[in-house]
Amino acid sequence: MAATLPKTYSAFRRAGATIEQTTEDLPADLGAHEVLIRVRAVSLNFRDVAMLHGRYPVAVEERGIAASDCAAEVVAAGPAAAAAFRPGDRVAPIFDLASLTGHEDGPVRALGGDAPGVLREYAVFADAHLVHLPAHLSWEEASTIACAGVTAWTALGNPVSVDRPHATALLQGTGGVSMFALLICLAAGIRPIITSSSDAKLAAVQKLSPEVRGVNYKTTPDVRAEALRLTDGRGVDVLVNNVGPASVPDDVASLRQRGVLSFVGFLGGVTGQLDPSLLFALMSKKAKIQGIGVGSKADFEQLNEFLEKHAVSLAPIIDRVFPFEKSKEAFDYLYSGKHVGKVVIKLGQD
Ligand SMILES: NC(=O)c1ccc[n+]([C@@H]2O[C@H](COP(=O)([O-])OP(=O)(O)OC[C@H]3O[C@@H](n4cnc5c(N)ncnc54)[C@H](OP(=O)(O)O)[C@@H]3O)[C@@H](O)[C@H]2O)c1
Repeated sequence: MAATLPKTYSAFRRAGATIEQTTEDLPADLGAHEVLIRVRAVSLNFRDVAMLHGRYPVAVEERGIAASDCAAEVVAAGPAAAAAFRPGDRVAPIFDLASLTGHEDGPVRALGGDAPGVLREYAVFADAHLVHLPAHLSWEEASTIACAGVTAWTALGNPVSVDRPHATALLQGTGGVSMFALLICLAAGIRPIITSSSDAKLAAVQKLSPEVRGVNYKTTPDVRAEALRLTDGRGVDVLVNNVGPASVPDDVASLRQRGVLSFVGFLGGVTGQLDPSLLFALMSKKAKIQGIGVGSKADFEQLNEFLEKHAVSLAPIIDRVFPFEKSKEAFDYLYSGKHVGKVVIKLGQD
C-alpha cells in the first residue's frame, strides 16, 4: 500500500462502562476483494451506549471497537475491488455483514457489536460490505444512514408502499431513528406524529415543517387517544416503536385498518405485560406487527436512491458534532438523552 500511510491508527474500544482510546496496526497488504477506508465521521446509536450500561439485549464482542455507523473515503482497494472502489470514493460499511439481500438465513454479524466497529481512523472491509454514499450529503450527514437511517426506512416499510390517502406515521421519541424517519416521511408525503418527553424538543422539531404534529408523552400520557384524535379517528398507518413491549397494547390500539407496527426499540426496557387478546385487535384491523433488524445492503442502497431522488438534507437531524478525541463525551451526551436526532463524531479537519 501507499508509503504515506501510517503503520498504526487510533480507535475506541468498549472498556466496561466506558470506551478507551487504543492504537491498532494498519494491515500491510490488502486481499483481492478488500478496501481500505479512512473514516471521516461516525454517528452514535442508542445501542452503542446501551452496551456500556448493561442495557443491550444481545451478546457483543468483549472490548470490541465501538459504533456501527460511519461515512468514509476509499484510500486503496485490492485488485478485484479496484474498479468499483477508487481512491476518494465516499462509502459506508453496511450494519449487518451477513445481510446483503435481506434473504439470508445466517446469524447477524453487526458492526460495533459482535463484529469490530467503525470508531477508528482506518478500517478494511470486503467490497461486498460497502455501499457508495449520496453525493449531496456531508460526511456528518452521510454517517447517520447505516443503522439509524436504514432502520427508519425498513420500519416505515419503504414509504412508497404507504401510498394511502392521509397516510400517517407515529414515531416514538426524538432520537436518531425517529428523526430520520421524520425526514423520510416528509419527503414521501406521509404526515408524521412524533412523541417526546419535552415541549422544547417538540417545538424545535415542529419548526421543520407544518406537517409535523407533536405529542408530549409525559403531559399527555394517553398517546393512543391523541393519535386517534389527530387522525380523525382513523389511526396511524405505521407506528415506529422505539420504546419496547411496554407500549405495544397502546400501539396496536393506535393503528389504522391494515396498519403496521414496526417493533424497533427497547428504550423503555425489554419487558411488559402483553394480553393475548391483543391478537384479536390485530386480527380485526387486519394489521400486523413486524420485527425490525435494521435492514440489508439492498435496503441501504434503496434508501440512498430515495435520499438522492428527493434531495433530502440530513443536516436538520444532526444535533451535535464532537471531535474524535472527545468521543467519550459524545457517548455520555447521547446517554443523557438531551439530543434531538443524531450525535456525530468527526475525524480529521475537513
Ligand atoms: N431493531 C433495530 O433494528 C434497531 C435499530 C436501531 C435502533 N434500535 C433501537 O431503537 C431505539 C431508538 O434508538 P435511537 O438510536 O434512535 O435512540 P436515541 O437516539 O438514543 O433516542 C433516545 C430518545 O428516545 C426518547 N426516549 C427515551 N426513553 C424513552 C421512553 N421510555 N419512551 C419514549 N421515548 C423515550 C428520548 O427522546 P425524547 O426526550 O424526545 O422523549 C430520547 O432522547 C433504541 O432502543 C435502539 O436500540 C433498534
